[in-house]
Amino acid sequence: MRVRVLVTGGAGFIGSHIVEALVSAGHETAVADDLSTGRERNLHPAARFYRLDIRDPAAVDRCLAEFRPAAVSHQAAQTSVAVSTREPARDAEINVLGTIHLLGACVRHGVERLVFASTGGAIYGEVEGERRAKVGDQTHPLSPYACSKLAVEHYLDAWRAELGFHSTVLRYANVYGPRQDPHGEAGVVAIFARRILDGSAIQINAMRDIGDDGCIRDYVYVGDVVRANLTALAGKLGDRTINVCTGVAADTKAIARGLMAELGRTVTIGHGPRRAGDLLRSVLDPTEMEALLGAPVGLEAGLAETGRWFREHGP
Ligand SMILES: NC(=O)c1ccc[n+]([C@@H]2O[C@H](COP(=O)([O-])OP(=O)(O)OC[C@H]3O[C@@H](n4cnc5c(N)ncnc54)[C@H](O)[C@@H]3O)[C@@H](O)[C@H]2O)c1
Repeated sequence: MRVRVLVTGGAGFIGSHIVEALVSAGHETAVADDLSTGRERNLHPAARFYRLDIRDPAAVDRCLAEFRPAAVSHQAAQTSVAVSTREPARDAEINVLGTIHLLGACVRHGVERLVFASTGGAIYGEVEGERRAKVGDQTHPLSPYACSKLAVEHYLDAWRAELGFHSTVLRYANVYGPRQDPHGEAGVVAIFARRILDGSAIQINAMRDIGDDGCIRDYVYVGDVVRANLTALAGKLGDRTINVCTGVAADTKAIARGLMAELGRTVTIGHGPRRAGDLLRSVLDPTEMEALLGAPVGLEAGLAETGRWFREHGP
């Protein structure tokens, strides 16, 4: 069935992939984005574009009043943990207040369902030993960014209970894939891919001590995040919260090695100190996602796809 879907943050890395998949599936799609970290070149020509800041309630209301979406995929956010630590008020203005403006407009203009991009990578805090964090586990947000995402999850619970407003919460692990910004301070796959192709040295920041293999993460391919969003937007995941992840623990060195093998180039690996605020280990339980959506793309296949894209697209 053809529906109208609004993707906030649709000029960004993940949002632009969601837009592409929605347009390919024949849905009438619009993007709401302020182009703060998103790029004009990521805008899909077949999607209507509303340039707006979600902190502006009147602009958000006008967009929903005009486009009248049946469903909203809410990807727009201040996405940097480091920025959230430096500017916690701005993080909350965008991630909490901006989302509240969006929710208000959704309710006023008859949106049937909202899908929220939350973070499994930050919300559970340290995931020690061999553990994989499950949705029912105690959350332990250790950054303003994680706090803002968890706050929105609670608002969605309240909206659901009070107003019967339907929402699905997707807790993404560390997402990677084509179009990820290689110039930021996060997104190690994109940063390494670009540098390896340029023949530049790469740096592994320590998990504990300089020279170790780096922090442990659960890397999920963007195609799986898109699949989860499209299924959720269709109402097929119900009012659930699920991890979007692989459950596979990979350290930074494994990413470096995997990309060098895929790209057929070797560069010097340097070692840096531990970065303040970096979790040592974050791995999520994929059981529910696998049952609902099937197996995720493996790291090797995902790195191959990503490496190919970076090879074909210049800096
Ligand atoms: N990339 C990951 O590993 C990851 C992991 C967990 C959760 N997430 C979440 O997924 C979503 C998408 O992240 P991404 O990696 O594609 O980041 P991104 O920076 O590429 O995309 C975010 C988009 O939101 C837009 N935006 C930011 N502030 C805005 C505002 N005030 N008003 C309107 N638009 C605004 C940006 O311009 C950008 O296009 C975010 O909500 C992020 O928190 C990402």
